[in-house]
Amino acid sequence: MKVLVIGGGGREHAIVWKLAQNPRVDRIYCSPGNAGISEIAECIDINIADHESLIDFVKYDWIDLTIAGPEDPLTKGIVDKFEREGRRCLGPVKDAARLEASKVFAKEFMRKYNIPSAEYKTFTSYIHAEEHVRMKGAPIVIKADGLAAGKGVFVAGTMGEAISALRLIMKEKAFGSAGDRVVVEECLEGEEASYLVFTDGKTILPMASSQDYKRVYDNDEGLNTGGMGAYSPAPVITPEIEKKIMDRVMKPAIRGLKKEGIKYKGILYAGIMLRDGEPYVLEFNCRFGDPETQTILTRLDSDLLEISLAVTDEKLSDISLEWRPEASVCVVAASGGYPGKYETGKVITGLDDVKKMEDTAVFHAGTAYNGQDILTAGGRVLGVTALGKDIKEASDRAYEAISKIHFEGMHYRKDIANRAIKDQR
Ligand code: AMP
Ligand code: GLY
Repeated sequence: MKVLVIGGGGREHAIVWKLAQNPRVDRIYCSPGNAGISEIAECIDINIADHESLIDFVKYDWIDLTIAGPEDPLTKGIVDKFEREGRRCLGPVKDAARLEASKVFAKEFMRKYNIPSAEYKTFTSYIHAEEHVRMKGAPIVIKADGLAAGKGVFVAGTMGEAISALRLIMKEKAFGSAGDRVVVEECLEGEEASYLVFTDGKTILPMASSQDYKRVYDNDEGLNTGGMGAYSPAPVITPEIEKKIMDRVMKPAIRGLKKEGIKYKGILYAGIMLRDGEPYVLEFNCRFGDPETQTILTRLDSDLLEISLAVTDEKLSDISLEWRPEASVCVVAASGGYPGKYETGKVITGLDDVKKMEDTAVFHAGTAYNGQDILTAGGRVLGVTALGKDIKEASDRAYEAISKIHFEGMHYRKDIANRAIKDQR
């Protein structure tokens, strides 16, 4: 079988790494990929926004399955196009991907189908939004409706912050048309976790729970990033909570979409806030999380190719998922200055030392190979991921591994998984 993976981050490296373990997979292509991916797959240079060229490649190279990593191709309808050509692409069609593409759509959908989420109101007029925010008071959460690479959400602790966020989104148009509408919602306090499932629109198979760290510095300080680390499982997701998430979130979501005439196939990701033991949905994503996937796929014992084919071919009821009992922790090494301005082209050393370590994998995000050295090529550079008998052991191993790696300006959080280690005690 031949597989094409679309994307070039840590999540895609983990997907390629997992696929490469199946002897039925003869060839893996990745567009655009990165230096780490190029060690196990053939990287091709097709713009991921150019769906027609991707489909041409899949047709002429007889690719059996395509997996789209990031949200962009999915929310722009790549799966619809593949389906029209009779080709398999793992992920939801454009209408279903609106759960991620539009926060207004997601909130209205959750209200209609009684899926627990924060109270909210949506606005297209700045004046009315400001009036409402002043009436409600801080803390309050302001969200741009459309995709904003994770930067369109503001948890405002003060009225000043809330008004600045509204101005940024609606007046200054910092996120373009993604800010034509805003969601203003109640601020929920509690513990967060990520909960992902595979579904073919009929069967829903939960993945292991996980948790990511969005802020750049320890103790959740500093700006939001694409994700500085993750761990799996998330001890806050007890079997009882898991049942609540399945019964109150996942099943109603898939069934609700079906009632709307939309079949959801692929991965559905719910960002969950647990308040007083009750799950509330903060957001839906229509894809694997990054860096949660690095921890989830290192724990998945079952085969990703078989699961993906069962999803696209609507045979997921034939599959059961097996998980390794170990915990997994991923620590992200980022370029100096990230998430602000940063330089690239720094030589990365120590990767070969980590290769010798057991139960450890370094998933590349922003890296490139110049024929001699592996160089930094992005904000998030590497996701150093390790398994251990519990979260503490996995975390110790991940930190031992990352201590062997160097590049100029490299920084990483020192507290990834600490709260889970505390919860486990
Ligand atoms: P989202 O992209 O909607 O998940 O939001 C990004 C982050 O903002 C979440 O991971 C939460 O930490 C935070 N957040 C979003 N919505 C809320 C809310 N209603 N209450 C508190 N925090 C929130
Ligand atoms: N880790 C959060 C996300 O992938 O959206």
